[in-house]
Amino acid sequence: MDQTTLTAQFASTFHQQPARLVHAPGRVNLIGEHTDYNGGFVFPAAINFGTWIAASTRDDRQIDAVAVDFDNQRNQFSLDAIEFDEQQGWANYVRGVIKMLQHDFPQIGGANLMITGNVPQGAGLSSSASFEIAVLKAFSDLYDLNLDGVKAALLGQKAENDFVGCSCGIMDQLISAMGEEGQGMLLDCESLTFEHSNLPDDLDIVIINSNVKRGLVDSEYNLRRQQCEEAAAAMQVKSLRHADLPLLEACRDNMSDPVYRRARHIITENQRTVDTFRSLREGDIAAVSKAMAESHASMRDDFEITVKPIDYLVEIVSQVVGNKGGVRMTGGGFGGCVVALVPKNLVSEVTNTVNKFYHSETGLKQTIYVCSAEKGAFS
Ligand code: GLA
Repeated sequence: MDQTTLTAQFASTFHQQPARLVHAPGRVNLIGEHTDYNGGFVFPAAINFGTWIAASTRDDRQIDAVAVDFDNQRNQFSLDAIEFDEQQGWANYVRGVIKMLQHDFPQIGGANLMITGNVPQGAGLSSSASFEIAVLKAFSDLYDLNLDGVKAALLGQKAENDFVGCSCGIMDQLISAMGEEGQGMLLDCESLTFEHSNLPDDLDIVIINSNVKRGLVDSEYNLRRQQCEEAAAAMQVKSLRHADLPLLEACRDNMSDPVYRRARHIITENQRTVDTFRSLREGDIAAVSKAMAESHASMRDDFEITVKPIDYLVEIVSQVVGNKGGVRMTGGGFGGCVVALVPKNLVSEVTNTVNKFYHSETGLKQTIYVCSAEKGAFS
């Protein structure tokens, strides 16, 4: 739904004009997978898909929220009794975020919210983080809160961890809040400091959704987190950020083989992420290409979060782009999307190749998005 229609629908539902129209983007992670909750490095970009909210304040302490994309379902609750909603799953992102926000900003009052978005759901492009950050931006603007992007990201993550029940890291919320147009962001997930860098003009960000129906995502994600914590404990470091390969080898007998391989992924992925940020800055695309290929292999063999159709996509795209671009799975894993950095003159060849072979090999139908890097909600 476009913004004019959203505004019109807000007016006809709430009998007033919205005071604010806010937007928060989804994201794609260029490299640095599962490193965020290990205190490591990630290198995402905010993308031109996101969540829009038309909003106004109310004189009472009620929240009245409408989800356009869920058949205009309506969810109403009081700021004084925010509980988990078993019926309308989407509403828990609104409820959770507002509950967390109230701790720090008890002065907030009620609001009318009309919400729509175009981030593909369940594709690993952070539709939920974009939703959370959009709600936070709406309240920040409506109530003139002293809320910066990092604080907003932490509140969004807390809502997702403690209210919705998914133990994600900080990457998705932080890039949705603090992305920059045309740039990727190297984020240090321990200090929460970050640095932006221009993405090369001659490369497009191509995202290919495998449309694999994702199962067991939360349980496998949580299991990976536990295994990483186990590895860190076996090496007596605070987090895997503080481990290196010699230490891992020295402690190998203290952990099971899967736990050893999970740690090896994180340690090598942190290095690849920092290296890729530098290589992109220096225009060394062959090095970026190699790092993305190694990242994918590490996710496949050591972290074991890829699936066959995703491996196949990476294989056929890498045959087209060679060392002039890069390709790897992006996001939490077990389905979802592949991200490719593709020279502009090879985009149609990538698209044609995927259209020609993916369906006949896997029986699935892909969706391809040529994306741009966008500004975050709080940048
Ligand atoms: C999901 C989580 C992020 C991050 C990625 C994997 O997107 O929400 O915090 O852990 O998986 O890199």
